[in-house]
Amino acid sequence: MFILPKLDYAYDALAPYIDSHTMEIHLNKHHQAYIDNLNKALQGHPELVSWSLEKLLIDIDLVPQDIRIAIQNHGGGHYNHTLFWKIMTPKSKIVHGKLEQKIVQWFGSRELFVQSFENVAKTRFGSGWAWLVVDKQGELKIYSTANQDTPLMVGDMPLLGLDVWEHAYYLNYQNRRPDYIVAWWNVVNWEFVEERYCQLIG
Ligand SMILES: [Fe+2]
Repeated sequence: MFILPKLDYAYDALAPYIDSHTMEIHLNKHHQAYIDNLNKALQGHPELVSWSLEKLLIDIDLVPQDIRIAIQNHGGGHYNHTLFWKIMTPKSKIVHGKLEQKIVQWFGSRELFVQSFENVAKTRFGSGWAWLVVDKQGELKIYSTANQDTPLMVGDMPLLGLDVWEHAYYLNYQNRRPDYIVAWWNVVNWEFVEERYCQLIG
């Protein structure tokens, strides 16, 4: 049984960039619903009990067909949101580490990286996520996915993920998704992301 993770900070800690009410509903209603539906889908499949959440998504093609879409949507929803809470912090500060070096090498500058990520997040039509990932070759990529599709399903490891579903910003920003995207950089937990990157590249 998968359970809801605890936040490392208070609901109101990310305000004014992300408001307390949005955080509370996002975690306790939306994220919880993905977990409930994931657990429900797995109920009829005891052979999958030993599979981790990551394995269910990386090996999505091996998941029995009758629950594959449910695992994709709700397993993806659980994984993406769990990462999302971790990559935010009220004590955001830029880290000048290996990831920054790679970002500058790959995108030309930190500013060009930010621009490119924002562009992908703004132009994702409908609900989905914007990602910075490390691919199998250890290179960085920026792209978006629809719904709760996760980079794990195509063999990439997500470093940064921005939820651009309306449920992530509508109470505070209404239709102004670009304002939410720009504000989000103020709460990115670069220390966590740097550590994750260093673990991934070994
Ligand atoms: Fe969400």
